[in-house]
Amino acid sequence: MSTKTSADSGSSKFLPVEPFDIIVFGGSGDLALRKLMPALYHRWQDQQIPATSKIIGSARTKMSSEEYRQLVRDKFEEFYPEDKLAEETWNAFAEHIHYVGVDALDQKSDDWDDLKDLLDGSDEKLRIYYLALPPGIYGQVSANVDANGLKTDRTRIVLEKPIGSDLESAREVNDSVGEVFDEEKIFRIDHYLGKETVQNLLILRFANSLLEPVWNSRHIDHVQITVAETVAAGERASYYDKAGALRDMVQNHLLQLLCLVAMEPPIDLEADSVRAEKIKVLKSLRKIDSGTVRADTVRGQYKEGSVKGKPQKGYAEEVGHPTDTETFTALKVHIDNWRWSETPFYLRTGKCMSGRWSEIVIQFKSVDHLMLAPESGRVQPSRLIIRLQPDEGVKLMLMTKDPGPGGMRLRYVPLNLSYAETFAPRYPDAYERLLMAVVRNNLGLFMHRDEVEAAWRWVDTILGAWSRDDVPVHLYTAGTDGPVQASVLLDRDGREWFDGA
Ligand code: NDP
Ligand code: BG6
Repeated sequence: MSTKTSADSGSSKFLPVEPFDIIVFGGSGDLALRKLMPALYHRWQDQQIPATSKIIGSARTKMSSEEYRQLVRDKFEEFYPEDKLAEETWNAFAEHIHYVGVDALDQKSDDWDDLKDLLDGSDEKLRIYYLALPPGIYGQVSANVDANGLKTDRTRIVLEKPIGSDLESAREVNDSVGEVFDEEKIFRIDHYLGKETVQNLLILRFANSLLEPVWNSRHIDHVQITVAETVAAGERASYYDKAGALRDMVQNHLLQLLCLVAMEPPIDLEADSVRAEKIKVLKSLRKIDSGTVRADTVRGQYKEGSVKGKPQKGYAEEVGHPTDTETFTALKVHIDNWRWSETPFYLRTGKCMSGRWSEIVIQFKSVDHLMLAPESGRVQPSRLIIRLQPDEGVKLMLMTKDPGPGGMRLRYVPLNLSYAETFAPRYPDAYERLLMAVVRNNLGLFMHRDEVEAAWRWVDTILGAWSRDDVPVHLYTAGTDGPVQASVLLDRDGREWFDGA
């Protein structure tokens, strides 16, 4: 497929948004400096940030706006070395940036006045609070914003993940933030929903008449969802050691992907319609409890090895004590509804794996009858492979005849849609898209509290069974694709992870 449908052809363009002020609490943290500020810069570069918009970083540490601008710039240059910042361009963007030092947990602090001064006279303007703060303080910070008279009728709030660490704590966060902000003002981020290829799942499924008739148990043998990472978890141990792969990745990102693959067609793409379909899927997930947890789940933890040629310590060594936190998990998931009752979904995710790739593999059933002689070669089932990152693309793996003489020799080859070859060279990353979606009030790209809570309800059962039944954590060598038990999970069903596209 080589038809170019890129920005050059005028098919994609940035729509203007209304002026807004964004206050990033946790503005000096890793997320703000590595993702949010660069995202805002890129949107500014594409002329999407209106001239009157203010970008206000805030944290407890005291510094001047000038120092903060320098920090944002330094980090930008560190994380985006390929984006050469021209002095003039940078200075023009930096004019939007301000900094206020305030302890967001201290309701009575006089420092709130500095924020008030900056926002003075802009009560009619759209105001966004982005909570890039340690989790667990979202409710208190919301209350403090309100108590200091900084919540207007046009205020929206963005909550980073994790929303709680189980159902009960998620409810507490939702209740406490909900006391200050109505649900339609709350934007819970799952940055996977902002990824271009994840967005494309909806189009792929619902704008192609070819797929919908076969998108069910009658035709699909099983689905695999893999989010593999090469990064280690040890550096974030204070958070990660209490979380693990199930909480950190499955409860949110992988379940969101599963929902988009499995949900029924919504009546439209309005937030309520899409969210309602996703919630139905989450409620249809079959519980994995004591009876099935050993058979249907695998827990792993990386031990010393090497990732992409670099030596890597084991996780327990990194955190400095023995721990049974899983850095890898694989699950066999059943969706008990009409469409999927016979089709298992296999999920896996892990740190320190052999490569970084996120992929959804839809494996169709094998042909019913084969008239070819065995020497023609192995007939493989058709597979639709949706590559989320990197090398974004969609492949349809099909059997073909190997051209030329020599009889009916079979080849398994892809019909290949590569984003890099087909579309514009750069499109907005997840945070760019999501930040603009908050401005546009596009709640469909964010999670409703019911989604978050339904996901936790299902995950909590697994966590409970893991600890009650002492489900072992299998060690895998850093730089490999998880413990062998993850292969056994599929092998037992006569299947295998598809890593070959
Ligand atoms: P960091 O620890 O790097 O940053 C935390 C920030 O919060 C700092 O700017 C800190 O500055 C500020 N802060 C802490 N307490 C207060 C307070 N009481 N009042 C005001 N500011 C405060 O964390 P991250 O940036 O990594 O993560 C932020 C949130 O985003 C977390 O909830 C995390 O789970 C989530 N997240 C992060 C991702 C990432 O890639 N980093 C990815 C997905 C989610 P100071 O100490 O000066 O107050
Ligand atoms: C975050 C997790 O939500 O997603 C991290 O907390 C993980 O542990 C990250 O590394 C992966 O995101 P991406 O966009 O790099 O796939």
